Amino acid sequence: MHNRMMITGAGSGLGREIALRWARDGWQLALSDVNEGGLAETLKMVREAGGDGFTMRCDVRDYSQLIAFAQACEEKLGGIDIVVNNAGVASGGFFDELSLEDWEWQIAINLMGVVKGCKAFLPLVQKSKGKIINIASMAALMQAPGMSNYNVAKAGVVALSESLLVELRQAEVGVHVVCPSFFQTNLLDSFRGPTPNVKAQIGKLLESSPITAADIADYIHQQVAKGEFMILPHEEGRMAWKVKQQNPQAIYDEMAMLAEKKRAKSRAL
Ligand SMILES: NC(=O)c1ccc[n+]([C@@H]2O[C@H](COP(=O)([O-])OP(=O)(O)OC[C@H]3O[C@@H](n4cnc5c(N)ncnc54)[C@H](O)[C@@H]3O)[C@@H](O)[C@H]2O)c1
Repeated sequence: MHNRMMITGAGSGLGREIALRWARDGWQLALSDVNEGGLAETLKMVREAGGDGFTMRCDVRDYSQLIAFAQACEEKLGGIDIVVNNAGVASGGFFDELSLEDWEWQIAINLMGVVKGCKAFLPLVQKSKGKIINIASMAALMQAPGMSNYNVAKAGVVALSESLLVELRQAEVGVHVVCPSFFQTNLLDSFRGPTPNVKAQIGKLLESSPITAADIADYIHQQVAKGEFMILPHEEGRMAWKVKQQNPQAIYDEMAMLAEKKRAKSRAL
């Protein structure tokens, strides 16, 4: 069998859309989240789209819950072919304002949640010679100002994915990392940060996306089929990443100007 996918954070946003994209190909979905209402809705939609599967409440901060989820995947589906580490939360605030608790919360979910997901599911993907898809962000590559804890967590997800890409090649496990720019989902519901107006600024960026979560899921589906490691769904993100690779200083200068603007806006509010 090569049609079994597990997704964390599948009760909303991108996780749900990834489930629906693969459900349209008739896949079995193992759906987990801390939001059980959202999960039940996703499973219903998956069935309507042509897939099937099961849901399980799982907090990615708790390794024992991920291990129990992996066991459930083995019992109910006989294994897993694609692991999608997608669960994540939003945060923002300038470094001088962020508390260590803000940092620990962000790293525990957005970085260690992915580390734990990879570790708990490694035996299953090794057995199936399957794939791991980690959801990072353009924040990992561009380090926008006023969100250093998010940037660091997501940069860690990219570094982990690169490490696994090379370590797991011999085992024939494929690894992909996805770096979207902002797009509209419920991500801001989870926002944590010292300055509430940063939340409003991020809200505007989410609304401004030219593409939807469903478009991004479609793009991931295409690029995974092509075997692309680093998946950048936004055209603007692909362009920015090219510039940064050729001329990082130009991006640092632009980001420093953006930081000044953001600070001025915070003071004005
Ligand atoms: N929306 C964006 O602009 C954007 C941009 C780049 C990357 N991303 C990333 O995409 C991924 C999906 O986010 P989204 O935009 O669909 O947001 P979302 O809030 O709609 O979905 C995220 C889901 O993760 C779940 N979750 C949160 N904490 C969890 C935990 N500890 N354990 C298990 N589940 C948990 C939430 O309940 C939610 O259902 C995240 O990793 C996010 O960082 C989002």
